[in-house]
Amino acid sequence: MHVLITGGSSGIGAATALAYAKTGARVTITYKSGADRAAEVVKRIEEEGGEAAAVHLDLEDHTTIAPAVAEAGPVDALVANAVRWGTIMPNSVPFEDVPAAEWTAALHANVVGNALLAQAVLREMRRRKFGRIVFVSSGAAEEGMPGPGPYGTAKMALHGMARALAWEAGRDGILVNVAVAGLTITGVSRPIPQPVLDEIAARTPSRRLSTADDLAALIVFLGSAANRNVTGEFVRDGSNAGRSSHAL
Ligand SMILES: NC(=O)c1ccc[n+]([C@@H]2O[C@H](COP(=O)([O-])OP(=O)(O)OC[C@H]3O[C@@H](n4cnc5c(N)ncnc54)[C@H](OP(=O)(O)O)[C@@H]3O)[C@@H](O)[C@H]2O)c1
Repeated sequence: MHVLITGGSSGIGAATALAYAKTGARVTITYKSGADRAAEVVKRIEEEGGEAAAVHLDLEDHTTIAPAVAEAGPVDALVANAVRWGTIMPNSVPFEDVPAAEWTAALHANVVGNALLAQAVLREMRRRKFGRIVFVSSGAAEEGMPGPGPYGTAKMALHGMARALAWEAGRDGILVNVAVAGLTITGVSRPIPQPVLDEIAARTPSRRLSTADDLAALIVFLGSAANRNVTGEFVRDGSNAGRSSHAL
């Protein structure tokens, strides 16, 4: 099994790469600016006896997408995890003041970029009559998040893309799902004060926030042969606190 994981140089992507490698899968991760961090992930996998490679891919620069997939070689599974976070922080800029350029950039990278990425792996998956695609989305986007409208809008577009693709590609043995992450402990959550994290955790069913490893386990299931027929689904982990967390 060969898996391509975008944004594998940190956070959930890196944890997913390590988790896949533990199952015996060969992984190719992509990085944008973190070549050194990506090399560290590859080294760790190799030290544990696995097989891994890293390639450069920038969702903002569409000319990098097909060459990155070609360099990776045919894949059995794609994890579309990379994200252009954007420049708008939660509760920072009123909706009416978000510049057009920010909308364009968010959709260009996170929607069109991921569509081109899926296109680049699909032909080979169809030929082999097997494929797994997992888009990584956000519970905050799904529930509605004040502030980064372009980020949330782009994430929700992935839900539509996944459903459309699930119907289109299902007859060729390709299953397509969305892993909907709640607030997950990665570098991104680091600036959030601990009391706020604790309060959000208290509003989740399991009373704890997921780690990147927790998300990785979900993604590996959805994106492997162990997933026999789950498709077109938006699967939330227990870190999703629901609407109430955005008021904090
Ligand atoms: N952490 C959370 O609380 C949370 C919650 C909900 C959803 N998510 C979703 O989970 C996924 C991973 O999040 P994370 O917390 O692991 O984030 P992260 O640690 O910031 O990792 C983001 C990854 O995306 C890559 N990347 C950034 N801009 C890119 C671009 N323009 N083109 C290609 N790759 C790019 C980064 O590469 P370089 O570092 O090499 O530049 C990095 O590998 C994202 O889709 C995010 O929306 C996260």
